[in-house]
Amino acid sequence: MATWNLFLTIMAVSMTTSGWSVYGLSMQYYSMACPFAEQIVRDTVNRALRSDPTLAAGLIRMHFHDCFIQGCDASVLIDSTKDNVAEKDSPANLSLRGYEVIDDAKDQLESQCPGVVSCADIVAIAATTAVSFAGGPYYDIPKGRKDGRISKIQDTINLPSPTLNSSELIKMFDQHGFTAQEMVALSGAHTPGVARCSSFKHRLSNFDSTHDVDPAIDTQFLKTLSKTCSGGDNKNKTFDTTRNDFDNDYFNQLQMKAGVLFSDQTLLASPRTRKIVNGYAFNQAMFFMDFQRAMFKMGLLDVKEGSKGEVRADCSKIN
Ligand code: HEM
Ligand SMILES: *[C@@H]1O[C@H](CO)[C@@H](O)[C@H](O)[C@H]1NC(C)=O
Ligand SMILES: *[C@@H]1O[C@H](CO)[C@@H](O)[C@H](O)[C@H]1NC(C)=O
Ligand SMILES: *[C@@H]1O[C@H](CO)[C@@H](O)[C@H](O)[C@H]1NC(C)=O
Repeated sequence: MATWNLFLTIMAVSMTTSGWSVYGLSMQYYSMACPFAEQIVRDTVNRALRSDPTLAAGLIRMHFHDCFIQGCDASVLIDSTKDNVAEKDSPANLSLRGYEVIDDAKDQLESQCPGVVSCADIVAIAATTAVSFAGGPYYDIPKGRKDGRISKIQDTINLPSPTLNSSELIKMFDQHGFTAQEMVALSGAHTPGVARCSSFKHRLSNFDSTHDVDPAIDTQFLKTLSKTCSGGDNKNKTFDTTRNDFDNDYFNQLQMKAGVLFSDQTLLASPRTRKIVNGYAFNQAMFFMDFQRAMFKMGLLDVKEGSKGEVRADCSKIN
């Protein structure tokens, strides 16, 4: 574990300073075959976010769901067919947003350099662009992911549920090679987004055998959440007070017992993660640094190379 982290740190440093590559991925992967690939994706994403800033959260979440299931291989974009129900149709796809931005970038790339740039790289670049557009850290990522050929609804069971407690989250992220600190940093990705009532209503009534309402919720904030839910399961609440902004206010809200999901507030409740939450609430620069490192690492999860994958012509279908 420690060796892996040291390796990643060294790798991150060498990759940002040179053309050094690992897993066949590299910073300059497209420099010969499609030199403007990254710029095209970044421009497309920035343009889309100028007209709808709420999509930043959608694109960040899409990359997470992609990487956690089958690796970062754009399996999240595949449509179901008559023989296969894809990840997309899982209730856990919950309101994923931003597919049209990925398709727009892909269309432009296919006309400039057909068959070269993978959908998985577009999703990864879109997420980093969204983070910096929203005011978070700017960081560069290696490219060269290939697109996968498998997308199954049953795999989405491996996405974390908002009812998990801190120990369960630590365990689940550990299975993907992340430390508790990295898990907390990654949870900070919630800062620009929203959750729908259906994701937190279990906290508001029949919570557990001894409490009707989750005792970890501040009483005023409880009213806010209940008000959201009075509009129905699909009404949403922003994770923090600075909607669309990527900042550390998410952690400030946890300190005030105003976390939206049970899985958010548990990070403060548990002694194993509380210090990390307090640290990020106190020091945004530290949150940004840890977040970008953890995102870089997430972007390498089970990456497919060479013949293990393909470059899809249409992101929603295997070739
Ligand atoms: C720690 C475990 C995590 C759990 C249990 C979790 C769960 C959730 C849930 C339930 C929602 C609300 C969905 C809805 O109601 O429509 C959500 C939203 C979101 N999640 Fe997570 N998530 C986790 C980690 C992450 C990570 C690691 C990232 C990215 C790096 C991420 C990015 C997002 C974003 C940006 C949103 C807002 C989406 C939007 O506004 O459209 N989450 N998450
Ligand atoms: C997500 O899954 C639901 C079914 O649970 C489906 O109705 C919806 O179309 C899916 N969303 C997307 C964007 O594919
Ligand atoms: C977290 O949940 C697991 C499984 O439900 C339970 O065994 C454990 O005691 C919980 N941990 C805490 C700190 O509540
Ligand atoms: C959240 O709710 C607001 C106000 O009702 C709505 O305008 C917005 O589209 C919703 N966002 C999402 C992602 O559903």
